[in-house]
Amino acid sequence: MDPKDSTRLPLNQRPAWKALQSHFQSIGTKHLRDLFAEDPARGQRFTAETDGIFLDYSKNRVTSETLRLLVALAEESGLRAKIEAMFRGDKINLTENRAVLHVALRAPKSERIVVDGEDVIPGVHAVLDKMASFANRIRSGEWKGHTGKPIRNVVNIGIGGSDLGPVMAYEALKHYSQRNLTFRFVSNVDGTDFAEAVRDLSPDETLFLVASKTFTTQETMTNANSARAWSLSGLGGDQSAVAKHFVAISTNAKLVASFGIDTENMFGFWDWVGGRYSMDSAIGLSTMIAIGPENFRDLLSGFHAMDVHFRTAPFEKNLPVLLGLLTLWYTDFFDAQTIAVLPYEQYLKRFPAYLQQLTMESNGKHVTLAGKPVTAQTGPVFWGEPGTNGQHSFYQLIHQGTRLIPCDFIGFSKSLNPLGRHHDMLMANVFAQAEALAFGKSAEQVRAEGTPEWLVPHRVFEGNRPSNILLADALTPAVLGQLVALYEHSVFTQGAIWNIDCFDQWGVELGKVLATKILAELESPTEPAISHDSSTTSLIRRYRASK
Ligand code: F6P
Repeated sequence: MDPKDSTRLPLNQRPAWKALQSHFQSIGTKHLRDLFAEDPARGQRFTAETDGIFLDYSKNRVTSETLRLLVALAEESGLRAKIEAMFRGDKINLTENRAVLHVALRAPKSERIVVDGEDVIPGVHAVLDKMASFANRIRSGEWKGHTGKPIRNVVNIGIGGSDLGPVMAYEALKHYSQRNLTFRFVSNVDGTDFAEAVRDLSPDETLFLVASKTFTTQETMTNANSARAWSLSGLGGDQSAVAKHFVAISTNAKLVASFGIDTENMFGFWDWVGGRYSMDSAIGLSTMIAIGPENFRDLLSGFHAMDVHFRTAPFEKNLPVLLGLLTLWYTDFFDAQTIAVLPYEQYLKRFPAYLQQLTMESNGKHVTLAGKPVTAQTGPVFWGEPGTNGQHSFYQLIHQGTRLIPCDFIGFSKSLNPLGRHHDMLMANVFAQAEALAFGKSAEQVRAEGTPEWLVPHRVFEGNRPSNILLADALTPAVLGQLVALYEHSVFTQGAIWNIDCFDQWGVELGKVLATKILAELESPTEPAISHDSSTTSLIRRYRASK
């Protein structure tokens, strides 16, 4: 398949798109109350399940016809062929001429995926084995620091995909972690991040994982250099200490070596793993040290189970496809600007932040693979907070504001920390919020409660706010893998229909280039010639005068 195929119709000229436009005229304002009244079995019918992940999407503003047309749009957009192209290792990241094979990171040893004439699976498993043996040595105390003490603190230094996955997974799977080890994550170039992360740590018990695909990222290299200085000054300045207290996770062996890290202590990955798709590569080393190799393998098996489902299930029953199509339905037809992700699980507190990079760096694109302007809105803004906390801050706007904000609720049947009635209360709130959003409370209902007439409008809930509910048994490593892969493939589904490159991120470049130029101007010992716009120039001068 040639993704530049000029015979493929632009999105807004595909028959299913046009059919969806006219279908939207008839259903766009229809209330969920009516949809449920017309179809009492809706709550059972609009559901899908795979390997213990259950999706109830009945509280969405869709009918069977909507789904039929959305699936037709996916077919017309070549989604099936695009999925195969990804799994096969085709170079579908067109603008960087790369394969996109995060699915290979969790494929079993028996699989064979060839990139540039080489089967990548043996290399994946070799790195996993090397990670496992290293993780076991840290966890058991066998690996000793420069002064002979075991490692008690692990600090991951990385940013973007080299931070958000590791920190999210550490928080999500803390229940399974080895509690005598302390984990910290340093990402920001703001020195406060590093200073606060290490202030109570002792260098002789601290291991740094420098995680950077490129090993050139300004923030990470600046923090890594500060870490080396901190470590060496606490260990008497002996350069050989670096070997015991630093390991690298990167695709760039040359730069790792020139930083002073022995490439024996380097865990590699490959250019076909995108940063935001890398938490199950060696970038997950902190996760593996925290939860152990067995649990890490369970995490990978969860990812893989969702990969198989995405690749093989019919679109009507395919969770990532359904989630992706619903996102596109609201983004492109209802003009929804954002999607809220609301995990009712405290351990998933960083999941929305993780999804922000996954979804927005992937689908924040304005041109198609052929370089033409897209003809529809692309990636919506993803955001969220764990419930029930969010209910006491921003839910007001979702319930009664003027914007349509589709929500994904995530809940579990069992708590990892059963405590009295807590979990039933938590889950009661999931079901209540989704019900309130969908059905609201009419003026008649408000009046019937004896509310004075002037107050009635304030107490009315229009309802008709859509949501998905994702349920699983408990937050295990495998379930986390399934959830992450679910969103990865939902992103892919949307990108396939928009016909954009989900795997590049050129939008981050300009700011990086300008920051390098401005940094020199901020640090110049003599007054530099500054030729930015008048705003930027005055800001630089003001900062120079006051710093
Ligand atoms: O901000 C752009 C980006 O390239 C992300 O895509 C990536 O996850 C992050 O920077 C970190 O990159 P690296 O792992 O190469 O340091």
